[in-house]
Amino acid sequence: MTKKSAYNVAIVGATGAVGETFLNVLAERNFPIAKLLPLASARSVGKNVTYAGKDYPIEELRHDSFKDIDIALFSAGASRSVEFAPSAVKAGAVVVDNSSAFRMDKDVPLVVPEVNPQDIFTHKGIIANPNCTTIIMLVALKPLYDYAKITRVIVSSYQSASGAGAKAMQELTDQAKAWASGKPLAVSAFAHQLLFNVIPHVDVFTDNGYTKEEMKMYNETRKMLHDDNVKVSATCVRVPVLSAHSEAITIETASKITASKARELLSKAPGVKLVDEPDKRSYPMPLFAAGQDLCHVGRIREDLSFENGLSLWVSGDQLRKGAATNAIQIAEELIK
Ligand SMILES: NC(=O)c1ccc[n+]([C@@H]2O[C@H](COP(=O)([O-])OP(=O)(O)OC[C@H]3O[C@@H](n4cnc5c(N)ncnc54)[C@H](OP(=O)(O)O)[C@@H]3O)[C@@H](O)[C@H]2O)c1
Repeated sequence: MTKKSAYNVAIVGATGAVGETFLNVLAERNFPIAKLLPLASARSVGKNVTYAGKDYPIEELRHDSFKDIDIALFSAGASRSVEFAPSAVKAGAVVVDNSSAFRMDKDVPLVVPEVNPQDIFTHKGIIANPNCTTIIMLVALKPLYDYAKITRVIVSSYQSASGAGAKAMQELTDQAKAWASGKPLAVSAFAHQLLFNVIPHVDVFTDNGYTKEEMKMYNETRKMLHDDNVKVSATCVRVPVLSAHSEAITIETASKITASKARELLSKAPGVKLVDEPDKRSYPMPLFAAGQDLCHVGRIREDLSFENGLSLWVSGDQLRKGAATNAIQIAEELIK
């Protein structure tokens, strides 16, 4: 990308949960923006978004929206990415896409800057931001992989309502209000009532019995580590938390890694905050990881069920590190 003092940035899906986080994170990180273009559906035309204290009118996403845009941050769902990202590339923009549309395309790098930053520069116009649950897991696992080579991952996720978008987050809040006032609870964003429940069903089921979300964790982990020998078995679960996903992870490594070595590595790892003093009731929780860019890692212990096993618990804000912050870190690498 040609070096400039400031860049024209389009945000596709600017009214959504990720879009709003993009606006906050760009402002917080002082990203050098010359022109900001918020795009959404025709439904949002006439509304504004606020960036760094100033209102910007939302425009409808169209094929000709990208003239003079340097960087297009997409978060409006996979079908919009498939339809409009090629137009953005054709107009000269680099697309960082949050959807699943291009992640497994062999010509599209899939990047977490703490894991495989070198892949950014192989792009041909589109860079994919990985699945949010996979990003949070890999930030914690990369230092352990580098030290002892992970061969197997067994992971259960505890995914917050906002992972399914702004309306889903609202649905959980509305269910809490309805329950408190003795009214019936409306259910539409999830397969079942989420309040006072956990739902072992994130995204659609595939033929092998895993959901698409679980298969993203399998496929995307292997792609980013450039290692098809790593096996991942995931169970993805929606829990009645508003923001930040958590994950119970057990790994098997080729060589032994002790809990204290893992703690030492993770205390220095980029993107990680070690929160591991259980005797002081200090361990990662979504309540405290929400709003943070660092993934909180703790409950580190040697696994009792097999040799060379290590278990840990991670909480990370999936709208920030799992989506907006990761994409903006990629954009920062591009303009360095
Ligand atoms: N939520 C997360 O934690 C998370 C994490 C990682 C990745 N992602 C991915 O990011 C994307 C957005 O997720 P989200 O959670 O932010 O969803 P969301 O809150 O439902 O927002 C969806 C956004 O897409 C826009 N949109 C929908 N249909 C459109 C159309 N026909 N033309 C233009 N814009 C359209 C919406 O605009 P209107 O307001 O005008 O409808 C809104 O801005 C998805 O691909 C999702 O998989 C989400």
